[in-house]
Amino acid sequence: MSFLEEMFGLDGKTAIVAGGAGVIGTVMSKALLMAGANVVIWSRTQASIDQALEQLKALAQDPERMKGMQVDTAIEKEVAEALAASAAALGSPEILINAVGGNIGKAPFVETEMDQFELVLKLNLIAGLMVPTKVIAAYWIENKIKGSIINLTSMASYNPLSGVWAYDAAKSGVLNLTTGAANEFAAYGIRVNAIAPGFFLGKQNRALLVDQQTGEYTERGNAVIAHTPFGRFGNAEELMGATLFLASNQASGFVTGTSIPVDGGYLAHNI
Ligand SMILES: NC(=O)c1ccc[n+]([C@@H]2O[C@H](COP(=O)([O-])OP(=O)(O)OC[C@H]3O[C@@H](n4cnc5c(N)ncnc54)[C@H](O)[C@@H]3O)[C@@H](O)[C@H]2O)c1
Repeated sequence: MSFLEEMFGLDGKTAIVAGGAGVIGTVMSKALLMAGANVVIWSRTQASIDQALEQLKALAQDPERMKGMQVDTAIEKEVAEALAASAAALGSPEILINAVGGNIGKAPFVETEMDQFELVLKLNLIAGLMVPTKVIAAYWIENKIKGSIINLTSMASYNPLSGVWAYDAAKSGVLNLTTGAANEFAAYGIRVNAIAPGFFLGKQNRALLVDQQTGEYTERGNAVIAHTPFGRFGNAEELMGATLFLASNQASGFVTGTSIPVDGGYLAHNI
């Protein structure tokens, strides 16, 4: 085995990628598959799972190394069932990626639609972190598995972005709980970290950043690029390196409670 395989190889490991049919989740699944892991994609709709598996098919020489499970990650009972089915299909998972999340809409603070506010909180904090983490960490503790959890934080975790108040609140919560859970789970050898992508065009933020009619960047899209020292949006593939680093115990076995920005310098920006 080469040094790189020893450091970053994931042969025989099973990963659950919640939200694995999304833009970022699919690419993170791709990285895990290419490093040798078995991957179970969790998503809410069968159509999104089929689409993601189709995209990933060519990467796993053995198609049995990847599965999809239809699950609403906000519902504890469904997550517990999906975990049992995932473990039965591909072996006990040792990696959990929490890539369910996203933003919906944008409004001045006083015009916030409270139903939407709750929806976004639930999407990012409950479906996007709490429920899968609670269920899988409990399973790991019971079975003495020293797993690795990778959450998805955001630029909004560090400093609120205008107009997306629920997303701001939820993503600062994701950063906070990443640190808190890392602290509590360290006693069991479970690591909890996050990746903080800068701006990547996902399904939900695309509408804010790109004019749906003309395909040109919106004013907000241009403002993001102006604030990003690299002067562009990220390519989802640029998240693969941080994914493998945090997934591999060999590479990051002493790393927990951290959030790695992959942001083209967005957080470093200053005049
Ligand atoms: N795209 C970006 O620029 C960016 C930047 C920073 C952080 N993030 C974060 O990364 C994560 C992934 O973002 P993305 O751009 O890939 O979003 P996406 O919308 O493309 O993917 C999210 C996926 O989660 C699924 N999903 C939603 N609710 C679910 C539920 N209850 N149960 C199961 N599946 C559910 C959706 O169907 C979708 O496939 C999110 O947490 C997002 O906030 C994205």
